[in-house]
Amino acid sequence: MRALAPGKIILSGEHAVVYGKPALVLAVDRYAEATISSNAESRVHFELIDFDENSSLTLQALRELKGRLLRNYQMFLNGELGIRDVLKKPFHLFEFLFITLIDGLQLKLDRGLDILLHSDIPVGSGMGSSAATLVSVLKGLAAFFKLNFQADDFFAYGLEAEKLQHGKPSGVDPYISVHGGFVRFQNKQAQKLVMPRVPFTIVNTGSPQATTGECVSFVSEHFATSPIWDDFEAVTNKMQYALLAGDVLDVQRCVRENHKLLTTIGVVPHTVQNFIRDIEKAGGAAKIAGAGSVRGERGGMVTVYADAIPTDIVNRYGYELLRVKGEPNGARVV
Ligand code: MEV
Repeated sequence: MRALAPGKIILSGEHAVVYGKPALVLAVDRYAEATISSNAESRVHFELIDFDENSSLTLQALRELKGRLLRNYQMFLNGELGIRDVLKKPFHLFEFLFITLIDGLQLKLDRGLDILLHSDIPVGSGMGSSAATLVSVLKGLAAFFKLNFQADDFFAYGLEAEKLQHGKPSGVDPYISVHGGFVRFQNKQAQKLVMPRVPFTIVNTGSPQATTGECVSFVSEHFATSPIWDDFEAVTNKMQYALLAGDVLDVQRCVRENHKLLTTIGVVPHTVQNFIRDIEKAGGAAKIAGAGSVRGERGGMVTVYADAIPTDIVNRYGYELLRVKGEPNGARVV
């Protein structure tokens, strides 16, 4: 059983979406893939191919792990533990998801399972790689156990697990991975939009030092009750109209405004700010796409709107151009 789930790019509204404001989110043609098969042992074996990491646990050990992770998460909610310390290993996220699903639905497991995970979505860079991996596992398991799952079920289970990694996420990442396409997402609901036609380029400024969970926690400490989220909402609304109208200049104006707001909340590292300033000087516009970073100089993905791809500027900073297209479809079994 093999399942694919797409990654995403946020065109407007990252962080603001955590505070109930809208975000414009596009699924892209980068995928996480889960392959599920049964084995003769009575263990569940997870293999993260890209990280060369694996783990093999019995159901009992998985239940104990789940208990520990839930206690850690509660400590995070109480302010006693940083979000980075809730999960000790990357595969704990998928083990938590697995046992939550098995026990939640009282599924009988009469054999062991091998679950192989692979992804071509850059990790920790704002493209929703963890959520896509969670959703690919869910899709694969739902097909394996012949569950009558609807999109909402995939979303709910994906979001429950994502919390252990991102603290208090908006849910935008699992939602777009389940559904695909281009949506306006707000308060865990979404409206489907026409795929955007205004061209943009994605530039990878490197994997951020801070995780999404840490960025969300930092922003919450400093801006949870700030009126700045109304400004984010206004710019997202303008961006939606500009994208729909195919008005490139208006889109660029929105992106510059959005970048200023993201800089104000402290999620755009200095070197990335310099890069964006150089893009602006050359007549373009750019902004981080995702959580950004509250530490170090790398900010993950940046979306660039310019007449020509600014390869000279990208090369000067040692960044990498990424070719991605919008993906109209969500997670699926292949
Ligand atoms: C994550 O892709 C974007 C953030 O807005 C966090 C969230 O929405 O959960 C930073």
